[in-house]
Amino acid sequence: MGVPKHVAIILDGNGRWAKAKGLPRTAGHAAGAKNVRKVVEAAYHMGIRYMTLYAFSTENWNRPEEEVAALMNLLDNYLKTCLAEAKKNNMRVRVIGDISRLDPAMQDKIRNLEEESANYTGFDLTFAINYGSRDEILRGVRKIAADVKEGRLDIKELEEETISRYLDTADLPDPDLLIRTSGEQRLSNFLLWQLAYTEFYFTPVPWPVFGEKELKEAVRVYEERDRRYGKI
Ligand code: FPP
Repeated sequence: MGVPKHVAIILDGNGRWAKAKGLPRTAGHAAGAKNVRKVVEAAYHMGIRYMTLYAFSTENWNRPEEEVAALMNLLDNYLKTCLAEAKKNNMRVRVIGDISRLDPAMQDKIRNLEEESANYTGFDLTFAINYGSRDEILRGVRKIAADVKEGRLDIKELEEETISRYLDTADLPDPDLLIRTSGEQRLSNFLLWQLAYTEFYFTPVPWPVFGEKELKEAVRVYEERDRRYGKI
């Protein structure tokens, strides 16, 4: 089957990487944000078609205020330059998660970026921001219930595929490979529905230094598993 079509990544270890270097956690996030560009470019050149990155979880609001502000600032800066990059590289950008809790100016930037890049077909980059899988499923179930109540959806036609359609990832294929950096081996409320058949790859390397070499290794392991066991 070759290169995975859709790779999802839980970006972890910015804080620990910074601490090990005697730097503040926010310096780790800045290095992590810089690394996003590099890894996306590497993925594109390797023939990966979709990449989904866990940038800010619903739980991340519980972090110290300055850290939340720093993360939001990095995301905002990234979004500012993202449209030019999307145009240059024929890249469609989406955000999944409940963006209604974000700063209104940031929401506008997100909507604008999604609209302006909607017809680009070379690569699909998705950021999960204020994302939690249970929250996404709950929002989807609420929409399903409202549509059933209003007669827009017949309960007899409710299938697994219907649920997929009501999630934030409605028009994305499920990931083939999930990577989590920095040693933890848990999902942290990321894409619970979508990862049902996905291969998992965990690496001790922290996100700021996870580069092309590490991505290639993850893909190599994926391809080997694929050759040995096939896909169910
Ligand atoms: C985990 O590191 C990472 C995050 C909380 C979010 C990832 C955010 C970025 C890479 C910066 C902004 C993103 C973009 C897309 C521009 P951690 O703080 O949990 O690390 P630790 O577990 O070592 O403390």
